[in-house]
Amino acid sequence: MTLPIRPAVLHSPDYPFSPVNAPVKLDQNESFADFPHELKAIALQRMHDLPWHRYTDLNAEALSAAIAAHDGWAASGTVVTTGSNVLIALLIQLCALGGRVVTVKPNFALYALDAKLLGASLTEVPLRTDMSLDMDAVIASLGGTAGEGPHGVIYIPRPHAPTGSLCALDELERLAQACPGWLLVVDEAYHQFAPDDARELALRHAHVVLLRTFSKAWGLAGVRLGYALASDAVARQLRKLVPPFGVSLMQSVCAQVALEHPAYVQERVILTLRERERLATALQAHPTWRALPSHANFLLIRTPDAAAAHAALLTQGVLVRRQDSLPGLQGCIRVTVGTVDENSAFLRAAGLGV
Ligand SMILES: Cc1ncc(COP(=O)(O)O)c(C=O)c1O
Repeated sequence: MTLPIRPAVLHSPDYPFSPVNAPVKLDQNESFADFPHELKAIALQRMHDLPWHRYTDLNAEALSAAIAAHDGWAASGTVVTTGSNVLIALLIQLCALGGRVVTVKPNFALYALDAKLLGASLTEVPLRTDMSLDMDAVIASLGGTAGEGPHGVIYIPRPHAPTGSLCALDELERLAQACPGWLLVVDEAYHQFAPDDARELALRHAHVVLLRTFSKAWGLAGVRLGYALASDAVARQLRKLVPPFGVSLMQSVCAQVALEHPAYVQERVILTLRERERLATALQAHPTWRALPSHANFLLIRTPDAAAAHAALLTQGVLVRRQDSLPGLQGCIRVTVGTVDENSAFLRAAGLGV
């Protein structure tokens, strides 16, 4: 029997991830520590006291307002979903079905995967050999200006994943001005670890959308929450694509409790930056591995052989992520900045005495 499944889905690969267990888990760019115990207790009590038999807000209105107040955005322009990865597909549905998705390569895998699954025409502009973003090439790849040719969505992660590089804000401004007929999505999953963000730029341009997540600095990857900060005009249309009552009571309560106690995030970010620096400095002594400068909570390391590096670390209980299947990243592994002890274990496993 032939199932009525679209060829674009049939021919797409699975999401490139296979779970591996290891005592030191540095493979998914998660927060190095769990959601604080006392905040879990507050969230659990609040969940207990709320009715579970009622639907939640239609569009997570209370949570959107709390996020908007924290991020300095309008609640009307804040769209919450169960993970920012959901929004990556929804924004293609919003602007690029039958249109184009433009991004860079190497890159976070989901932009290209979703573009292919949804049948958009995909353009991936290579990063320069030093892994910086070639903005002239991105702008040239758009083809015409507003009104000419098919448009769609541009995805730029900032900081970039998996290199950790950060394109300059004036370069991003240049792109925003060059693409009035496109939706420019700046994925800020790791913005807390960078010196600046694109909020001001997005406020100036109605066609710029920021994606943010509770999965990284907030330490809530298991709760699954992400959001878009958009102009009212974009948010209003995007909300039509978000499933009604999609954010659960549990998700909403956890994130609201987090937003009421943001100090723990700042403390963890400071520790992450200190440890990122320690790892980068220590790795300079490695005979063959080279870490790229990073503005995120991970380091991309070029090694002579990613499979060998990954296996050698794993035999010593340290799990990192291979990145060598991505274009231009031969030999590369990616390590998340963990706790002080986890980072020391990683350095020891890499042959660097700590
Ligand atoms: C650049 C980037 N964007 C988005 C995501 C997805 O985040 P979420 O957990 O909110 O779906 C990730 C996850 O690793 C990421 O690295």
